[in-house]
Amino acid sequence: MSSDATDRSPLAEGTEHPFASVARLLDWGPMDEGARIVTPAPLEVDEATVETSLRPRRLAEYIGQTQVKQNLSILLAAATQRHEAADHVLLYGPPGLGKTTLANIVARELGVNIHTTSGPAIERAGDLAAILTNLDERDVLFIDEIHRLNHAVEEILYPAMEDFAIDVMIGRGPSARSLRLGLKSFTVVGATTRAGRISSPLRDRFGAVYRLDYYSPDELATIIERSAGILAVEIEPRAIQALARRGRGTPRVVNRLLRRVRDHAEVTGDGRITATQAEAAMTAMDIDDEGLDTTDRRLLAAIVQKFASGPVGGAALAAVIGEEVDTIEDVYEPFLLQLGFLDRTPQGRVATERARDHLRGMGYEVPPPRRSERSDAGLWDGITTEGRTESETPA
Ligand code: ADE
Repeated sequence: MSSDATDRSPLAEGTEHPFASVARLLDWGPMDEGARIVTPAPLEVDEATVETSLRPRRLAEYIGQTQVKQNLSILLAAATQRHEAADHVLLYGPPGLGKTTLANIVARELGVNIHTTSGPAIERAGDLAAILTNLDERDVLFIDEIHRLNHAVEEILYPAMEDFAIDVMIGRGPSARSLRLGLKSFTVVGATTRAGRISSPLRDRFGAVYRLDYYSPDELATIIERSAGILAVEIEPRAIQALARRGRGTPRVVNRLLRRVRDHAEVTGDGRITATQAEAAMTAMDIDDEGLDTTDRRLLAAIVQKFASGPVGGAALAAVIGEEVDTIEDVYEPFLLQLGFLDRTPQGRVATERARDHLRGMGYEVPPPRRSERSDAGLWDGITTEGRTESETPA
């Protein structure tokens, strides 16, 4: 391990992690920088299959997002009563909160087929035209990461969403003509983690726009109970609370934690998940009391240690921790912002006092912040955070 200031290994050199043998058995990978368990992004294919089996199929089974559910149920009931395609629906919010699940529920509630694609998968206008002409009456077209559609494809989508028609060019040059091709009526369900990146003409074509929020610990606890039932695993109420507290407000994360803890309970015990089992598995996975993993803490530690708690721009932070700016913004930051560990200012991200306390509590070195260098610096020029001028400050 390098001597990088943001690294922090709780183990003395040469010492094996207490759960290393379990980790080997369960194929968890190394215990210091293991696979990211709490990432809201989907992992491997077989995991995706289990995740699918845990997803609610009807609106009535769906836990949380009460307001979205209420509005959606009215929209779907009205469309069903009129025997019409439902209005186009745009779902946005951080990853793992149930956008894909809701899209599938929309199709099921309407009793129609769902066709699933994503912004980056549709490269050419012709690809989208082929999908659209294949839709049956009232079908759902789910476009994940809709903010990543390219401009030429978006242009095809506008008349398709508005008039259920596409304009096809026949021929080339001066004799080229545009031919309007009618489509069956259908519903687009668009999903995005970046509502701000959707062009306004596209956003305007959605009749309903719903924001998904992080789930409360009580909602996550109910989701864990339901998932444990489906997986036929016995789990103590205190273990449910332990998982819910570390679940980052995200169903995909708690379901993944539940499966890892179940592995742990099966290998080290009788398969029943006790609170002790849950806590031990979390420690083994290096997930702390707030649900942060190594990568989250590395990000916070970089801001605190390398940038004097900020402000720091996305590109500089990305370079230091070796992640893409988009990944930082889509995957890591939303939860750290929600937790009150990060603030975003026009100058960049700032690690809050809560974040600094948390890192300190976990044994990280926490140097004093550079808070006096802020946007209104003109007002504070030469004044330190203690209120003394720089010349008065002892070296
Ligand atoms: N599994 C994943 N998300 C869920 C939700 N919102 N309700 C019930 N079960 C879920």
